[in-house]
Amino acid sequence: MVSERVEEYSSSEEEEVTTVTNGIKNTAITNGVSNEEAEGDGKEKETSEEPIEIGMQCGLKNLYSGKEDKRGRFQWQDKIPEDVGKPAEDAETAKWALLVRNVKVYNDPRKVLAIHSIVVQSPLLKKLLESVLKDYPGVTVGLQRLEFSGKFEPIIHRWSQLKEAISQIGDETEDQRKTKEHAELFHNLLKSEFKNLIDASQDMMSKGVMTYEYLWTLFQPGATVYARQDGQETAMKLHETKYGQDRNGNPCFWLTCKYIDWDGAKFGTNKLNLSIPIYSGTRSITQLAVYPINYHHDKDALRTRLIERGAKAESLAGSHYKSYHGIGWKRGTFGTKDKYNIKSRIVIDTYGWNRFNPSFAIFVTPLNQRDPVVGGTSGGDGDDGEDEDNYDDGEDNDGGMPIDGQFADEDDESRRIPLTTDQKLICTPLLRGYSLKNKLWLNFFVNCVKEIEWQTGAFDSLVLPSNQKDLILGFTESQRKYKESFDDVIEGKGKGIILLLCGPPGVGKTLTAESVAEEMRVPLYMMSAGDLGLDPRNVETKLQNILEMCTKWNAILLLDEADVFLEQRSLHELERNKLVSIFLRILEYYEGIMFLTTNRVNTFDPAFQSRIHISLDYPELSIDSRRLVWKNFLAGSQQPNTISSRQLDQLALMNMNGRQIKNVLKTAQLLASRKEAKLSYDHVMTVLDVTQHLHNSTQENERTRASIFC
Ligand SMILES: Nc1ncnc2c1ncn2[C@@H]1O[C@H](COP(=O)(O)OP(=O)(O)OP(=O)(O)O)[C@@H](O)[C@H]1O
Ligand SMILES: [Mg+2]
Repeated sequence: MVSERVEEYSSSEEEEVTTVTNGIKNTAITNGVSNEEAEGDGKEKETSEEPIEIGMQCGLKNLYSGKEDKRGRFQWQDKIPEDVGKPAEDAETAKWALLVRNVKVYNDPRKVLAIHSIVVQSPLLKKLLESVLKDYPGVTVGLQRLEFSGKFEPIIHRWSQLKEAISQIGDETEDQRKTKEHAELFHNLLKSEFKNLIDASQDMMSKGVMTYEYLWTLFQPGATVYARQDGQETAMKLHETKYGQDRNGNPCFWLTCKYIDWDGAKFGTNKLNLSIPIYSGTRSITQLAVYPINYHHDKDALRTRLIERGAKAESLAGSHYKSYHGIGWKRGTFGTKDKYNIKSRIVIDTYGWNRFNPSFAIFVTPLNQRDPVVGGTSGGDGDDGEDEDNYDDGEDNDGGMPIDGQFADEDDESRRIPLTTDQKLICTPLLRGYSLKNKLWLNFFVNCVKEIEWQTGAFDSLVLPSNQKDLILGFTESQRKYKESFDDVIEGKGKGIILLLCGPPGVGKTLTAESVAEEMRVPLYMMSAGDLGLDPRNVETKLQNILEMCTKWNAILLLDEADVFLEQRSLHELERNKLVSIFLRILEYYEGIMFLTTNRVNTFDPAFQSRIHISLDYPELSIDSRRLVWKNFLAGSQQPNTISSRQLDQLALMNMNGRQIKNVLKTAQLLASRKEAKLSYDHVMTVLDVTQHLHNSTQENERTRASIFC
């Protein structure tokens, strides 16, 4: 009953009865009944006597799409559509060196056909093109079918290389002669088709101008382009280009570029989309927002500058305590760039940036590191081509999330593979870090980062009994050195050190913390109770974040006016009790050095007493101390003075604190310089006379305060 399945690959076209599709000769069968039979009867034959075993017939049954309706839908049929011809490419067409597909042109009165695509079949030509198109992204010449279509970008971009390669083919061997023939065939074909385009583009490039329509001819993928990013000169590797629309729907030319960035753990590439808005007529190439670096009027100097900056960026990978003078910015709520004028110490730390600004975190695609053995001897200082292998083109795993779902840990610095010159060239001009003064995470410019000018005399100028000074410095320094050696039974507990400085205003408590940090050359994180707020939930996270940062940066933490946290908990103030408990708990796990300062603590919470390692009392400055403070200030100032030793004694007799001395002296100096005279005792006395009421009233206040709290 069931007819035999006929299925064989056709090798000739003589048989007229059978149909041929895609090189396969078919006899169509419906439900096990041959087509002809079914048609003959006008309906399918009943096969009810023998049950059909579903899916058990070994064979394949073809169905064909029928006529399409307006929406591109069709019905399936088992007849081969009549207008199906033979495949255009077959054994016969395979012999030609080139296969050119042409399409009809409708809107150009000068021609009726245009090249749609070219298939390069000649193995000789393929070999030639291999060198011409070397490193061109997205083109693999070695494949069996090498096909060019669309705008033929690879060929147009490498036009001059193609011409050059053809001219260099010799004619000694048969192979060479044949290659030349094939290459010229290819060249002439393209020339006839694209002559106008190539001529126009090259003419414009030689004059340093370009039209919007021809922009794509200027930008070759893989080339180094130059642009200004946040006002900074930047070089990037061009990845791809396309015409499209900007956010407002206006036409523009998009360029996807790659640059090198540091993500807190490793260097890698990141992508940036730049655009050139549509313009009419020609425009000077160097006026474009982005252009190939070769068109820069001072390209050699620019290259050197960028490579130097890249090297600096490389040296700043990791966390570094530096000085900064320039603009820092961060993204505002509405995508704006909030700019800040920064002149302070900063800590550069991308890892911390990612940790505390997860929505603006930096991710990179790791660089494909060169195998040290296979990579050969070259140091990678070649400018062209060579280093391109180092960029991972493994597509888009930088889509805003780390690959393994977590931030990588900071790598061991010694294991980092140094950047090559080409990589330094395209290194980002931005660094991420924390401004200690503004207490903000910001983007900084590599060029504005400076070395810190340490105030070496700071600790010396602090007037304190010498044993007290020794104690503070000795304690903090050894704590840093031996941090690892002491640990509580629970890991991380009890590693830190907490110093309490207690005393009246202006006697050098804050200055102590400042000068210790300066002496030890570590960052000082100044925090006041106000920074933490009073809402217990916020306080906890804020405090934890700050402590984490300080531990990581080896910073000294200074909590000024810590009174709120230190006073004894009482039954009535529940909110404050919570604060104190949080503070006590978190403090115990802190692993760094912390200074607490306070003016007035009469009743310490007992829990604190055991947590504080050293508590120092700062008395009012003694006469001798005041004399020394006066002397130091005068010696430290650039302005000459005529104050004698005896006058200094007089000044020291006056009951003032360090801050008052500083302020009086500052005002007196202003007075003297206004009169263009040397600073004299009289100047100081005038200022004192004028501000007497201030001193009296502060002293008055002190007394009242003391009587309240003691
Ligand atoms: N012992 C001191 N030795 C040298 N300079 C001092 C001393 N005390 C105060 N000064 C000067 O006064 C300035 C203010 O001092 P500091 O900020 O350390 O006061 P403080 O004790 O923290 O006061 P407050 O409790 O008001 O915060 C210092 O910057 C310094 O110029
Ligand atoms: Mg202070």
